[in-house]
Amino acid sequence: MNVNIMNVDYSTKIPNNVNLGEDRQVLKALEGWHPGYMNWWGDMGPEGFQQSLVYLRTAYSVDPRGWAKFDYVKMPDYRWGILLAPQEENRVIPFGQHFGEPAWQEVPGEHRAMLRRLIVIQGDTEPASVEQQRHLGKTAPSLYDLRNLFQVNVEEGRHLWAMVYLLQKYFGRDGREEADELLRRRSGDADSPRMLGAFNEATPDWLSFFMFTYFTDRDGKMQLHSLAQSGFDPLSRTCRFMLTEEAHHMFVGETGISRILQRTVEAMRAAGISDPNDIAKVRALGVIDLPTMQKKLNLHYTLSLDLFGSEVSTNAANAFNAGVKGRFHETQIKDDHRLEHDTYPVLKLVDGRIKRVDEPALTALNMRLRDDYTQDCAKGMLRWNKIISSAGYDFKLALPNVAFHRAIGEFKDIHATPDGLLIDDATWNKRKSDWLPSTDDGNFIASLMAPVTEVGGFASWISPPKVGIDNKPGDFEYVKIET
Ligand SMILES: [Fe+2]
Ligand SMILES: [Fe+2]
Repeated sequence: MNVNIMNVDYSTKIPNNVNLGEDRQVLKALEGWHPGYMNWWGDMGPEGFQQSLVYLRTAYSVDPRGWAKFDYVKMPDYRWGILLAPQEENRVIPFGQHFGEPAWQEVPGEHRAMLRRLIVIQGDTEPASVEQQRHLGKTAPSLYDLRNLFQVNVEEGRHLWAMVYLLQKYFGRDGREEADELLRRRSGDADSPRMLGAFNEATPDWLSFFMFTYFTDRDGKMQLHSLAQSGFDPLSRTCRFMLTEEAHHMFVGETGISRILQRTVEAMRAAGISDPNDIAKVRALGVIDLPTMQKKLNLHYTLSLDLFGSEVSTNAANAFNAGVKGRFHETQIKDDHRLEHDTYPVLKLVDGRIKRVDEPALTALNMRLRDDYTQDCAKGMLRWNKIISSAGYDFKLALPNVAFHRAIGEFKDIHATPDGLLIDDATWNKRKSDWLPSTDDGNFIASLMAPVTEVGGFASWISPPKVGIDNKPGDFEYVKIET
């Protein structure tokens, strides 16, 4: 393995391990895009704290044994770099019509439009989440959490750079135009929204942030895994490295929810509350009750399910056939990787009932990826429920049925309960707030969102983490707030 590929060149304005120093044209295009990015970060990045010193990790190498260094840095000085995982020698396309052919180092003309679109969609989600989370700094429950928020934000910014690099290097003029558009769209904007639904929703509080990083960043993980299989090798390498950073975002989500649950059950026990559904009593303790946790979970899980698109999709089949987007863990699956004769069970609405129907495996690829996603989500449920049961409470968080609260796919026109029972509009309207966060729930959560900025301090509704970032002690000053 070449040393230059492993280590990152910090001598150019844009740190990179793709030899930008000798790729003057692309370097120039990226340097031309840089001021617009900094303007965007200033306008739409974290509100406040831009002059604070934040204890951040920065990627310095793509070596899995040690790719990041931690240090204090002001966010605008973070070195957003272009980092690709090392090129695998003799890599072949692992699926589709081109199965077994050498991976492409340039964009094949016939698949150009499809590749560009997939890169733009992925790219669009990265700045969107930064925009959604921009106001959370002012209500952070601790300096530890504040630091984690900013780590996620700068890395989503880097992921945008990663996609913009691909657009500018491989897609010529229309790539440059798409790169500019990525800085123009805004999450939730009426005229120029981000491309996907979940990325136009508000992230109003820290519980939403943790749910988002658990459920929605995990959709990102699944998409990146599928693109990491791509026959277009630069995309594959880019996504493989992004996944290392993405793991931390989901860790922030999973442990964030765990810490909230921990605090809730501890407070309930201390107060002698035996019924987890006694919401008023639990809320009076200044912690978030378990039924509200379930409602937030229902919301973020279902918004994230919509990101997988329609269960049956010819676009998905075309991308697979073309060798552009594969399956989760494609190379570990034992089949012919062409799927021309296979079927896959898809949940559909048949005569007013939810039924499993065998569909051609190629058109069912979105469903398959979504199933893989659901399995991945379920792991957190086990850990969270253990916290609740260990405290002696009979209450289980659960993923709602996929027919519940959907805006895309087979179930978008019907209403169902979280258990998957089909119901009419009137029943839905009557019971909706039993299953999804109501205005009251939102107001209650908002009432808890008071910032804690003292070193080592934590808000009433969340436990401290078991271990610090970079093994730092509990009283570590993760963010030195400017005064
Ligand atoms: Fe990302
Ligand atoms: Fe992420």
